[in-house]
Amino acid sequence: MKRCVWLSVLAMIAVGCSGGEAGKTAEGGGTTPTPETGKKLVVGFSQIGAESDWRTANTESIRSEAEKRGIDLKFADAQQKQENQIKAIKSFIAQGVDVIAFAPVVETGWEPVLREAKEAGIPVIVSDRRPDVPEDLYVTFIGSDFVKEGEMAGEWLVKKMGGTAKIAELTGTTGSAPANDRAKGFRNAIAATPGMEIVFTQTGDFTRAKGKEVMEALLKSPTGKEIKALYAHNDDMALGAIQAMEEAGLKPGEDIIIVSIDGVKAAFEAMVAGKLNCTVECNPLLGPFLFDAIEKMMKGEMLPKRTVVEDKMYDQTQAAAELPNRKY
Ligand code: AHR
Repeated sequence: MKRCVWLSVLAMIAVGCSGGEAGKTAEGGGTTPTPETGKKLVVGFSQIGAESDWRTANTESIRSEAEKRGIDLKFADAQQKQENQIKAIKSFIAQGVDVIAFAPVVETGWEPVLREAKEAGIPVIVSDRRPDVPEDLYVTFIGSDFVKEGEMAGEWLVKKMGGTAKIAELTGTTGSAPANDRAKGFRNAIAATPGMEIVFTQTGDFTRAKGKEVMEALLKSPTGKEIKALYAHNDDMALGAIQAMEEAGLKPGEDIIIVSIDGVKAAFEAMVAGKLNCTVECNPLLGPFLFDAIEKMMKGEMLPKRTVVEDKMYDQTQAAAELPNRKY
């Protein structure tokens, strides 16, 4: 059966089924049978970890959507380690799951294991972060446009600071697609404004604890005394940095203007409290998109190579009204 799935996937690629498309959530429901046996579909999902509120919401979305559709989900948490993800994918291959889905912690180093999946005839779907591999090794990618998120954050900050600021940047996990792309997008946005200067950049690994630790050290240094703005690649690191600023006697959101990415509930609460200035949404509720794609693929339908989920941006003026609507 698995070879049949890959053959139909390859046929789709051969007829030119690729290119971007704005994502839309379809309503799920019912049980997804495998075409040949009528048994429950078995999907192996390798998750990155539980490093942020975003990730927790993403996991919950995937687990609950699988349950709703009667899919047998084999879920593996890699604790932010690529070697654990590779082990999980190899184990899914050994178990002979019907479909493998994964969110790659970093961009590189996936080709050998994805070739193994392909040779075993198991189709792979990529969720959230993009791997740097030839396109024939996966069926489709579903996630946000991280470059655009970085651009939105940068454009907002240029306006807010009137074109002048010494900026600290807390980057995501080194080598990950969101860290690479959000850094690039932000730099694109500030490039034409020489007064916007990134004077410090360091990873906070997408966690609150590391964001706090890095900001604490920065504020004790001469560079830390100069910074007027913080760009954090996710809300958790911004929230950790906010704590560090408060402990150092500063007023986050006033003494240092802060823009971050994700749009989690805690970020909206921080905006309402005046401590965070802006967040760019990154939708973690990918479960419906993922299982829609899997169901379509199992029926032999054509899939785009990339489905981009739409994201919005919110500042302090919108926070109180939006907070009750936040789902994560
Ligand atoms: O890949 C998405 C990013 O991963 C989110 O922005 C971040 O919070 C998470 O850890």
